[in-house]
Amino acid sequence: MIIESQQQVTDAVLSELQRATNPRFREIMSAAVRHLHAFAREVKLTEEEFHQACAYIAALGKQTTETHNEVVLMAGSLGFSTLVCLLNNGNKGATETTANLLGPFWRLDSPRTPNGGSIVRSPTPGPVLFVNAWVKDQGGKPVADAEVDVWQSSPEGYYENQDPIQADMNLRGKFTTDENGHFWFRTVKPAGYPIPVDGPVGELMRAQGRNNMRPAHLHVLVYKKGYKTHISQVYVNDDKNLETDVQFGVTKTLVGNYMRHDSEPAPDADVKGPWYSLDYTFIIEPGEAKLPRPPISGKARGERPKIEQLERV
Ligand SMILES: [Fe+2]
Repeated sequence: MIIESQQQVTDAVLSELQRATNPRFREIMSAAVRHLHAFAREVKLTEEEFHQACAYIAALGKQTTETHNEVVLMAGSLGFSTLVCLLNNGNKGATETTANLLGPFWRLDSPRTPNGGSIVRSPTPGPVLFVNAWVKDQGGKPVADAEVDVWQSSPEGYYENQDPIQADMNLRGKFTTDENGHFWFRTVKPAGYPIPVDGPVGELMRAQGRNNMRPAHLHVLVYKKGYKTHISQVYVNDDKNLETDVQFGVTKTLVGNYMRHDSEPAPDADVKGPWYSLDYTFIIEPGEAKLPRPPISGKARGERPKIEQLERV
């Protein structure tokens, strides 16, 4: 079609999309074009701004490597990842869910660990944490024999794969739920950490005066045949960045009650000083058990990364 006005551009593109044979492709791309064109009209996008936007998107790709995905980081920083998660879990967004984002640090083949065992595999200073968690279905029935991966940052804010000081697979483990859907282990309290701000996501943060911190959390992935693979994070309730998570991952359901114990004896006699406990229940939904593609495949070598911390202004 030969275009006679700015209004007709949208029709021309939509009409070509009608040729697509895949109905879902047609639906998604038609909506994307409608919204994209409407967006340019709404903000009266200038040519210069359009060229800036193209350069920005190209930079997201250039900043993406084998071990870092700037596009996913951007999606999180705009709340899009959490929106997609909440639209697809909790009965398709109708009810509360304990589902959350996968993040970039899950690894395949975490070491199998018996219930009650520790995931601290090399000296890791920090307060001891005892986790008691349950996996249940939406009717409240315990889910036995579910495989549960857990992973977390150290109390210094590093995942083992980023940190040459920690042993391989430190603060990672794979558990199996018992007949009560229960799994439990000993660890150390995780700490929050900054996301990288040396690329386009950093520009976005600085333009808004945002900080780049994720509040402390424990990651969980529950795998059980007949259920949708459940990916979750349980956030530490005393973290000062809970309200300003740079990835918008914190939902009310996912704020865990990490309880500090000052005087009671800990479950293990060797624990001296204050310790923490966390009790939490994950609710999983019927669906397909499918593991995600691991975002990383191994341990980084060399130095601990020095990630800049932006102040919220
Ligand atoms: Fe994380």
